[in-house]
Order: sequence, then structure tokens, then C-alpha cells
Amino acid sequence: MLVSVRDTDWDGVRLHVVTGKGGTGKTTVAAALALALASNGRPVLLMEVEGRQGIAQLFDVPPLPYEERRVAVAPADDVRPGGDVYALAVDPQSALIEYLQMFYNLRQAGRALTRLGVLDFATTIAPGLSDVLLTGKAAEAARRKSGGKQVYGAVVMDAPPTGRISRFLNVSSEVSGLARVGPIRGHADTVRSVIASPQTVVHFVSLLEEMPVQETLDGIAELHDVAHGGIRPGGIVVNMMREAEMAGTKAPARPSLGSKTRDTHVLEMALKAAGLGDDQGLAADLADELADEARTARSQRALRRQLNEAGQPCYELPLITEGIDLAALYRLAQALREQGAA
Ligand SMILES: Nc1ncnc2c1ncn2[C@@H]1O[C@H](COP(=O)(O)OP(=O)(O)O)[C@@H](O)[C@H]1O
Ligand SMILES: [Mg+2]
Repeated sequence: MLVSVRDTDWDGVRLHVVTGKGGTGKTTVAAALALALASNGRPVLLMEVEGRQGIAQLFDVPPLPYEERRVAVAPADDVRPGGDVYALAVDPQSALIEYLQMFYNLRQAGRALTRLGVLDFATTIAPGLSDVLLTGKAAEAARRKSGGKQVYGAVVMDAPPTGRISRFLNVSSEVSGLARVGPIRGHADTVRSVIASPQTVVHFVSLLEEMPVQETLDGIAELHDVAHGGIRPGGIVVNMMREAEMAGTKAPARPSLGSKTRDTHVLEMALKAAGLGDDQGLAADLADELADEARTARSQRALRRQLNEAGQPCYELPLITEGIDLAALYRLAQALREQGAA
């Protein structure tokens, strides 16, 4: 099957950070995006940082260790085979041990230190340290090379929710308190330079509901402003859209005529014509439902307009009523590709 896929909106981007209000589908969309990116034929790393093991559940594999594991293969297209999707669950403690080993060859010491609760201590006196370790791991994977070639075509991070994202990514000023100088500072600055580069974008997952839309708009504004340096906002993924709401569908399915009395009257006539009698109560109830639907459709159109006005590419993903399994993820990945998200 030859599917038409547009060029990606994110050429040159190596690190895709996915945020959104909790429950909007961050983990699902991050996974679908990883599959979509892997369809370009290169391996992709999907990372989670909140210790929830959401990725393992989604791909139906055992809990992920602190180790990159292959969890899926992107579907092949006519041109090339699909790339592998690797997954990794990062926690600050393992990232600290790895960091100590990389920089000081202190793996054993690192183990002992974490047993002694030194990580807790370190993050208490250097708040933001654990964020640096987590984002640092993503930055490292995004830049990792082997034999002169990038190991991953892209890295996708299932990130903390919108309310915490700009602070989470604003690593270098967060550690500035204690670690003003020295290797942690240097590390934070390196991580910061990757996060603030055009190679990193932050995508927002939203629903057509008041709160997620507001959080998305606030989140985008905050990113522009992070430490006045700015982090590049990515796309807005409008998730769980019903068929009738998706762009490209004709007018809302059942528009109200605008006034309840008129709707009720028309419905009474219709019921009569259909041989269902002229039950006034039924016609009035139906008219109420029509009015409700029209109200929802109006408010969704307004929310959609607000998202469009944010000036970022918007992608739409359908509500998959059968639930999310691997086949559903492939479907969502395909939809993202067709719309230019990968
Ligand atoms: N497009 C979709 N269609 C149907 N269900 C979805 C869709 N996206 C997410 N879900 C479901 O919504 C719930 C929340 O999704 P999840 O990705 O875990 O959100 P988050 O990571 O933001 O908390 C899960 O049960 C998931 O299967
Ligand atoms: Mg999640």
C-alpha cells in the first residue's frame, strides 16, 4: 500500500519532548510519535522519566530496567523497512550512578552513595539536580554516536505534565544555587544547550476541553520565556477527537436550528410524519439534546480556534473506542505521519 506521507514539520529535530495535561494521552502520543519517527527507517528511543512504567504497559512488555530495550518495530512502507523503537525508563538514581561513572569512574562509589541516601541529600541541597540527570540522559541519547553515526534517528521523551514542564527543562538555572561551579554546572550547561537548541522541540497533547487547552496555551507562552532564553515549542496534538469533530469532516453532524421552540416544533412534525405520534415531551427532550450538542460543538470550535492561533502546527488524533493496543498505536502513528508530525 502506498500511503501519501508529507514531509515532516520537524526536520533536523533530534529530541521530541511530549507534554500535556495529565490524562490527555501524553504516554500514548509519545509512543505513537516514536513509531511514526521510526517509520523513517532509523531506530528511535522512547524514554519515560516519571517512574510509572507507562511504556511497558502500553507495549505489553515487562517493566523496563535502566537499559534500552527494543519494544516494537515501525511498519515498513514501500520505500524502506521500519526502524526499531527502543524504550528506556529513566530514574534519577540510576542516572546519577551512570553520571558518576562517566565522569569519575565512580560506579561502585555511586552505588554506595545512593544506598546511603546521598542522592536525596544531593537533590535537597541542589534542587533541580534530578531534573538535570533526567534531561541529561535524553540529551546524551539524542547526541550519541557510534562509528561516526548517530545511534538514534530521534529520541522521544514522555515528559512531566504541562504544569511542570518549563521548570523541568529549565535545567541550568535550577541547579545554579549550589552547583554554581564545577562539573555539575558544566554538565547542566551542556544539557541546557541541547534543550534550548533548535534540535529540541516540546509538543503539547491536548483535548478540545477548556482546561487542557488553557494549559497548552500557557505552556507554550512559558516555553518562549523560559529563563528568557526560550525553548522551541513543537506541535499541538489534539487527541481523542470524535469522527465528527475532525478537520475535513463536513459541518457538525446535527446542527440545531437555533431556537428551542423552533427545534421542538420541527421535531414534532418529523415525529408525526414518521408515524411516531406527536408526543410533545419526546420532541422537547430531543430538542434539548440538539441544543446541548450544538453548544458543545460551538465551544469546541472556539477552543480549536484558540489552539490554531497559538501559531504551532496542530495534529488531530481520533478517539479509538476499542482502546489502545499495538494496532491502535500504529494507526495513531500513521495519522501523525500523514499530517507531517514525523
Ligand atoms: N486517541 C485515543 N483514543 C482512545 N483512548 C486513548 C487515546 N489516547 C489515549 N487514550 C487512553 O487515555 C488514557 C490516558 O492516556 P495516557 O497516554 O496514559 O495519558 P497520560 O500519559 O497523559 O496520563 C489511557 O487509558 C489511554 O489508553
Ligand atoms: Mg503517562
